[in-house]
Amino acid sequence: MIEPIRILTKNYGVADSWTLPVYEKSGGYQTARKALSMEKAAIIDEVKKANIRGRGGAGFPMGVKWSFMRPHPTKPAYLVINADEGEPGTHKDRTLMELDPHSVVEGCMIGMYAIGAHAAYIYVRDELHLSKKRLWDAIHEARAKGYLGDRPFGKDYPLQVYVHTGGGAYICGEETSLLNSLEGRRGEPRFKPPFPAQVGAFGCPTTVNNLESIAAAVPALSMGGEEFSKLSKLHALGDGGSRLYGVNGHVEKGLVVELPVGPTIHELIELAGGVSGGRKIKGVIPGGSSCPILLPDEVLHAPDEKSPLHPWHGKKVFDVPMGVDTMRAAGTMLGTCCLTVIAEGTCMVRATANVARFYRHESCGQCTPCREGTGWIHRILEKIEAGQGSIEELDQLSDIASNIMGNTICAFGDGAASPILGFLRKFRGEFEEYIRTGKSPNNRSIL
Ligand SMILES: Cc1cc2nc3c(=O)[nH]c(=O)nc-3n(C[C@H](O)[C@H](O)[C@H](O)COP(=O)(O)O)c2cc1C
Repeated sequence: MIEPIRILTKNYGVADSWTLPVYEKSGGYQTARKALSMEKAAIIDEVKKANIRGRGGAGFPMGVKWSFMRPHPTKPAYLVINADEGEPGTHKDRTLMELDPHSVVEGCMIGMYAIGAHAAYIYVRDELHLSKKRLWDAIHEARAKGYLGDRPFGKDYPLQVYVHTGGGAYICGEETSLLNSLEGRRGEPRFKPPFPAQVGAFGCPTTVNNLESIAAAVPALSMGGEEFSKLSKLHALGDGGSRLYGVNGHVEKGLVVELPVGPTIHELIELAGGVSGGRKIKGVIPGGSSCPILLPDEVLHAPDEKSPLHPWHGKKVFDVPMGVDTMRAAGTMLGTCCLTVIAEGTCMVRATANVARFYRHESCGQCTPCREGTGWIHRILEKIEAGQGSIEELDQLSDIASNIMGNTICAFGDGAASPILGFLRKFRGEFEEYIRTGKSPNNRSIL
């Protein structure tokens, strides 16, 4: 069985792991101390070598993102940490906030210094009460010790970290909506460009990093970027380090576990004790509900022999190391790395309707294709569920979803449409049977 690794999670399970004494005992804040004595460019270089692909879903290389930041003649820079964690099926960032908040604070210190910021805002959704408390407690402890404040480690480079509470709208996880929300505006996405590195929080240059991404900056710098990257099975693809993987849905024991980047879907399910009740797998959603579902018999196709993905050409996708590029090649996304397992016997019409209901509810309403389309999709699926759907409406569903794709300001539209297209394509037979007979050929419970 695949072995978990304990770098980001080294303090998980230790008594009072969220307190400063425990964090310092495991070497805490030594990396921030080292960072503040380095050249900023050298820190960014190490983070580039670490090949940390953004842990928030899009997989953009973190070091490259940091390098976009340029000092502005009159404006301050900000670091904003995305801990909204609203993607259904995603439950990894909260473990860091609850069990090791100092690693987040230390990551913020390194990040702020590297991008030329003096303040960081950690945006946490309101219902994560323990996460907010543990983060604030850690910030207060770090301030009392002088790590945060006017002269961290005696250096004339003030650093402050604040926790900002969000209202819990999924769209506020999208980075530009998050920035609007942080500024006290309505949580609606902004047009890009300008990108946050040019015009971000309060009109100032800003880097938005996912919470796990920023925590990973600590081991990347303490181990050395390349060393950290090489932990990964996909180092050669520029997808480095270790990261948090989650497993939920129809498994014996849902979990969050740290692994070198690149476990297979089968390995993760095995770690979670297998499919609950010993059932067969019907499908797996690899990284949150926005990612199209994968089926056990699907095979990966590399574009050509020269492709770095060629070693996995023709392999079942459940046996391919899960990384940003391998999952993209499999026609889905790695997303947040928290996979949802769906067992044989589950009603896929109901599962699809459940996903559609979420996106209809969470669409911010700014773009017409998304605002109207998500509602139409959900209403048609409700009709099918009630036994009143028609085969023509199945094609209509595909049309509507295809018309949302690529036609919205932010990626919410694609995230709402592509899983629906995936369900429709891969379970067409089941949808048709439901429509013909007026009832589910499967168990309608999705639990
Ligand atoms: C609808 C939507 C919701 C998102 N929710 C989150 C979220 O909860 N947490 C997160 O880190 N990124 C989320 N993202 C991605 C962010 O926009 C952004 O890419 C990310 O915070 C950047 O951090 P990273 O590069 O470290 O991954 C979301 C994106 C979209 C389109």
